[in-house]
Amino acid sequence: MPRNEVDALFEAALAAQGAAYAPYSGYRVGAALRGASGAVYAGCNVENASFPVGICAEAGAISAMVAAGERVIAELLVLGDGEALVTPCGACRQRIRAFSAPETPIHSADRSGVSATFTQSSLLPHSFGPDNVAPNRRD
Ligand code: THU
Repeated sequence: MPRNEVDALFEAALAAQGAAYAPYSGYRVGAALRGASGAVYAGCNVENASFPVGICAEAGAISAMVAAGERVIAELLVLGDGEALVTPCGACRQRIRAFSAPETPIHSADRSGVSATFTQSSLLPHSFGPDNVAPNRRD
């Protein structure tokens, strides 16, 4: 991917991280994705006093993309602080799977930049997806 396209995702994710609502974990996450149109959509984690109700940054970014009428993630970046790589949680790997291709790049970043890049299928191999339920699809 061109460097400036990754930079645009990084900046959008960093801005979203600044808006994160994470009073319970203290772990602020920003995510940004580029849709097939080239538009960038961002999200942040939004926690809740009822802990399981909190939503991940990636879920917010995907929701923004779908609300704008897009259905294809071309590239995604997730950004968090700390020594450990921030990669999408299991549930978000499945959410990303629904709108991406096996080779879609998923970048892991902290505030200093991208530290690793994975493909969608490497994060969720042998996944269950839309084709599994194709006979019943109505989209
Ligand atoms: N979180 C995300 O938003 N995305 C990830 O990829 C990993 C985890 C959030 C969920 C929760 O609000 C906080 O990080 C700690 O788990």
